[in-house]
Amino acid sequence: MRATAKAHTNIALIKYWGKRNEELILPTNNSLSVTLDGFYTETTVHFKEHFEQDKFILNNETISGVMYERVTKYLDLFREHANKKNLYAEVISMNKVPTAAGFASSASGFAALAAATAKALELNLSKQDLSRFTRQGSGSACRSVYGGFVEWEKGEANDGSDSFAIQIAPQDHWDIRIAAVVLTAKEKDVSSRVGMKRTVDTSVFYDGWLESLPADLHAIKEGIKARDFEKVGSIAEANCLKMHATTLGANPPFTYWQDNTMTVMQAVQELRKENVPAYFTIDAGPNVKVLYLPEDEEKVLEKLHATEEVSDVIVSKVGEGISYV
Ligand code: ADP
Ligand code: DP6
Repeated sequence: MRATAKAHTNIALIKYWGKRNEELILPTNNSLSVTLDGFYTETTVHFKEHFEQDKFILNNETISGVMYERVTKYLDLFREHANKKNLYAEVISMNKVPTAAGFASSASGFAALAAATAKALELNLSKQDLSRFTRQGSGSACRSVYGGFVEWEKGEANDGSDSFAIQIAPQDHWDIRIAAVVLTAKEKDVSSRVGMKRTVDTSVFYDGWLESLPADLHAIKEGIKARDFEKVGSIAEANCLKMHATTLGANPPFTYWQDNTMTVMQAVQELRKENVPAYFTIDAGPNVKVLYLPEDEEKVLEKLHATEEVSDVIVSKVGEGISYV
């Protein structure tokens, strides 16, 4: 009863920002992402008859506390489904992505954990079922089940049965690049979970954000289909700015940006003035991701490396979905 799975992170071009059900992780809006080949998690789950509790080892360290509780609570979902309530596991995971620093370790982490657990328990889940399970570990993780360009359907049902991800274009549909600009790999102060709840509960800008989304989604899907880079990039950048604006309207207000976040955003806007189509997007953290086309790689990387306080730039291509090792 042992299996190993690998899952990549994803970056949202249309952000998931708010839940309608905290327990089942049901979102207030559809979101859309691209899976990244540069960042991933590999997780082995080994269920052992004699174990009296779960064990979680992340990056060679035994984990306790909140991170551990989150994993065991998540394994309970699978135990219940498999009718094996007293079967505990050793979970060994390696993040090839900084943990809790806004690089979506929760997405690759829970997607790899879901896939390895389901396989170890021989559950034979369809990808759609796997995406539903993955969603309950971390919302954005449900998109990492698939490679390429992926939409998470928010669904309408109260039990979450129609809330899962679907692939809208495969990995080889379009060769774009995504550079992760590392400013800090420190753990963030406000997790995405806490930040989005505060925003939904208190932000005076939240309704405006929600109202703007259907048009963004419709247009970006057209852009992806037509491989229209300027259309996709400009919608993604504007959508990111709107999401981050909602945090400033929350009570108490907060922001994930640092002053060097703005410096990188400006560097990307300067690239456009120099006729290099490049666009940024930012998740719940200070680090910036830059979208560009392969033929512009040299110019983009030169600009980013020349930008003050940039400690590293990690380039991704469009990545694949879950695989088993
Ligand atoms: P991030 O930007 O890295 O996704 P979050 O705060 O949203 O930051 O999520 C980080 C959390 O995801 C961690 O605190 C931990 O609970 C969980 N996590 C990260 N990596 C793994 C992993 N490999 N396996 C299980 N859980 C993980
Ligand atoms: C800004 O998926 O980490 O990255 O569902 O509470 O685990 P939980 O949140 P999470 O939030 C991701 C927020 C985001 C936008 C996105 O990835 O769509």
